[in-house]
Amino acid sequence: MTTASSADHPTRRDFLYVATGAVAAVGAAATVWPLVSQMNPDASTIAAGAPIEVDLTPIAEGQDIKVFWRGKPIYISHRTKKQIEAAQNVPVASLPDPQPDSARVKAGHDQWLVVVGICTHLGCIPIAHEGAYDGFFCPCHGSVYDTSGRIRQGPAPSNLPVPPYTFVSDTKIQIG
Ligand code: FES
Repeated sequence: MTTASSADHPTRRDFLYVATGAVAAVGAAATVWPLVSQMNPDASTIAAGAPIEVDLTPIAEGQDIKVFWRGKPIYISHRTKKQIEAAQNVPVASLPDPQPDSARVKAGHDQWLVVVGICTHLGCIPIAHEGAYDGFFCPCHGSVYDTSGRIRQGPAPSNLPVPPYTFVSDTKIQIG
């Protein structure tokens, strides 16, 4: 039976498909896309590998956006306190690809998770806020990632990669 969601347990409705025109925009997505778009170089420059800047201010706690860098989908998750604690409290040695959460986020910015949204099994694109660990779920063969993007169940051999990025301000990152 389906239960009601809360701020600490977002549903799929909270996911913002920022850069995917094929999917119906929900909620604030319509306002997020122009903000993201106008800061970046033109499409051919991005395709050639230019860094992109992303303004984080429109992303509410518990929401994710997806942007594209070098043709790859990049998930940016604004994690809730509950999601951060879940990521930090797991015994690292028990993980299939042991990595502490602190090695996957930037110091002082624990609420932001930035990962390449390509399943490390055979390359499908996982869905955010799905799966038993409230992280990412790959529907192709059932790989389940946690709120740090680490593989927890299924055939994927390793964690979702963290792309190179830096905080250029408290509310803006540069990827690449
Ligand atoms: S491609 Fe994701 S589980 Fe196989």
